[in-house]
Amino acid sequence: MTHNPQTVTDARGVPMSWCAESSRNAYEKALYRFQSYFGDPTVTLSAAVEAEPDFVMGHVFNASAMLLTSERAPIPAVIESIEKAESLAGKATWREKALTAAARHWMEGRWRDACATWDRVLAEHPRDAFAIQCGHLTDFLLGDAVNLRDRVARVLPHWDRQVPGYSYVLGMYAFGLEECNQYAQAEANARTALGIERRDGWTVHALTHVLEMQNRFDEGREFLQSTSPDWAPDNGFAFHNWWHLALFHLESCDFDGALRLYDEQVIPEPSEVSMQLLDGSALLWRLRLQDVDVSDRFGTLADMWAAKTDVENGYYAFNDFHAVIALAGAGRIAEARDVLAAVQSAARTNPALTRMMANDVGIGACQAIIDFVEGRHEAVVDALLPMRSYANRFGGSHAQRDILTQTLLEAAVRSGNRALAGNLVNERAVQRPHSPMTRRFRERANAG
Ligand SMILES: [Fe+2]
Repeated sequence: MTHNPQTVTDARGVPMSWCAESSRNAYEKALYRFQSYFGDPTVTLSAAVEAEPDFVMGHVFNASAMLLTSERAPIPAVIESIEKAESLAGKATWREKALTAAARHWMEGRWRDACATWDRVLAEHPRDAFAIQCGHLTDFLLGDAVNLRDRVARVLPHWDRQVPGYSYVLGMYAFGLEECNQYAQAEANARTALGIERRDGWTVHALTHVLEMQNRFDEGREFLQSTSPDWAPDNGFAFHNWWHLALFHLESCDFDGALRLYDEQVIPEPSEVSMQLLDGSALLWRLRLQDVDVSDRFGTLADMWAAKTDVENGYYAFNDFHAVIALAGAGRIAEARDVLAAVQSAARTNPALTRMMANDVGIGACQAIIDFVEGRHEAVVDALLPMRSYANRFGGSHAQRDILTQTLLEAAVRSGNRALAGNLVNERAVQRPHSPMTRRFRERANAG
């Protein structure tokens, strides 16, 4: 005869196997940190599992949060946490066992199986904020716009203002709606969420994306500047919202303003965080496409990437692409080619999903950057023109992947293909008819 393990519940009524009150409090604090980016959830939970080694959710949470950094470096610690959670299967609830299985799927490269497992958990426990957050972040890394919206939509009716953390769920829904081009609904949900919790950087981000996609760059600048005291200080995600502010400056051709944000907010000091370095690469590259002198910033950024490439190369093609940008941008072509070689190797040997990402988009995108730097602009056009329609396969948001279109457009200009450049500006002008950047692209296209 089996007997059910003794359980407790979290603040949303979701069951966990029995744990000390202090561990349950640590879980709530870590969850807040996971959702809000104010502080590192794994620091909170590492202390909790030290005090209570059988705290199942502590191990599962730690493993999953480390995986979702999109970096290979923490994998040994991830394995340790997953194995610890698996060893507690006799005590764990069904949900905890499923969450542990999801983490193992993810770690072994089966991100979609992890997402399906979180969906099963959410079918039973639609208020499992941890599972929603894990699924949402993975959908982002997958470039899966539909599930960014619908994974949240499937559980949203089970939430309301009385449930702790409701605003975070609304904010995720807003971002998913934005990635599905449903801008009015996205904005309405984001504004509701910010009315509840104005410090939520992810919701600020969702609304920022709406303003970016609708080319409301003056409004976007005002919004981010005026709200930055809410979302920026001590926040682990602030660099990305600052990056978006720099994009608004770029759109109005205020290149000095964009560079100032790079120096002061996006990469203010050496960083080891791939997602932050990625934004640095993406910003400097956009400036380089406009012939802005970024001085030795590419070199400094390339040093930060180079310190990581031995470990990270070939793990996640979206990161590799941005490493190549920094290295090639700094003129360090041999090192950029080393990263490309790692992506090519990943396209043969990685688990199926990341193999696909490397093969379908990663190799061509990395090669295009190297070709651009070495002046083979026609090759860049050949590679990127078809790729734009399926580039979401290697992850990121529409705004992030716009770097491919901007590179294509500029390569068309530089290769003298005025007709194609003109058509690409026409496309851009539909969403961005009045921006100085569109005008600038138009002038460049006309000048050939
Ligand atoms: Fe973004």
